This record gives sequence, structure tokens and C-alpha cells, in this order.
Amino acid sequence: MKRIVLFASGSGSNAEKIADYFVGNADVEVSLIVSNNPKAGVIERARRLHIPVLLFDRKTFYDTNRITQLLLNQNVDLIVLAGFMWLMPADLVRAFPNKIVNIHPALLPKFGGKGMYGHFVHEAVVAAGETESGITIHYVNEHYDEGQIIFQAHCLVVPTDTPDDVAKKVQVLEHEHYPRIVAEVLAGLI
Ligand code: GRF
Repeated sequence: MKRIVLFASGSGSNAEKIADYFVGNADVEVSLIVSNNPKAGVIERARRLHIPVLLFDRKTFYDTNRITQLLLNQNVDLIVLAGFMWLMPADLVRAFPNKIVNIHPALLPKFGGKGMYGHFVHEAVVAAGETESGITIHYVNEHYDEGQIIFQAHCLVVPTDTPDDVAKKVQVLEHEHYPRIVAEVLAGLI
């Protein structure tokens, strides 16, 4: 059995799509959902999906190696960031080489980096007059949004699009592709 752990700080719509994708899969399980936000919407989704939740604070995450140890002890095969806002600690990245993936709601390397998350990304895309946006799925290293790119999908941005319009188009791409790409990474196909 291969184990996936999902990290999320917010609503968790991608986490739910990924968990749904593997429901009934005899070889893969989403064994845990972890969050740094006790108010995250993902917690209620996890409860409905009967997936255990682990909450941690900044001190535990950055001043101890307890999360790294826990994930190693649970023989986790892939760590999937789905709207997780904090930078991954160096010891965790080193302990899981090419076993941590993230999704970013834009076409990296543009519109990435510290402070570029959620609506700020779509506002920047519209403000720059971009004619396309999309998603980027990438391996995670010790820097925000800089790991090797695994997959990108594009959507058109028309002059009348608001940041909300772009956000909606991008979310469609996220939900369509992220679960499948996670499955392919896990299967060693990518
Ligand atoms: C997504 O837009 C993802 O690309 C970004 O954070 C957002 C999470 O959305 N990294 P949700 O919580 O999965 O709905």
C-alpha cells in the first residue's frame, strides 16, 4: 500500500479531489491530512472523508523535527501540498527527496515566490495584462515555487476577465489535473 499525506492550510478543495480520486484504490491511500490552521476548511472535509487530521503550530514545524519523524515513521511515499502556505523546513525536504509536490495557481516561473498565493496571483496576472494563465505542479525544494516543474496546463485570459474569473478557470484546471498527476508521480510514471 502506498501512502499519501496531504498538507493544506485553507478550504481544501484540491485535497478533497485527490482523496476522492483514490477512494476504493487497493494500492494507494490518503493516510493523513495535516494543517497549520485550526480553522482550515480542509478539516471538515477530512472528517467527512474519514481521514485522520494532524494540526501543528509554527514552533513544532520549524523548531523540532517531529513532523519529519512522524512522516518517516509512517512510511509516507508522497507528500502533496494542496494550498499549504508555509515554506517546507529543510530537514523535511532532505528527508523526502523528490517526494514532495506542490500546485501553484499560475504558470511558473512567472507570478511565483513569497507572497504570491491565492488571489494575489490572479490580481497580478490581470494587472500585467497576461493573455493566459494556468497551473504549475512542481517538486518542492527549500525555496517557494522553485522546484523542478512536473506539469503545466494553460487557460486563456481575456481582457474582460476579473481576478475572480481567472481564479475560477484556474481552479477547474487544478481539480482536473492534480489528482491524476499525483497518481502518475506516485506510480513513477513521471
Ligand atoms: C489553490 O489555488 C492552489 O493552487 C494554491 O492554493 C489553492 C488551494 O485551494 N496553492 P484549495 O484550498 O485546495 O481550494
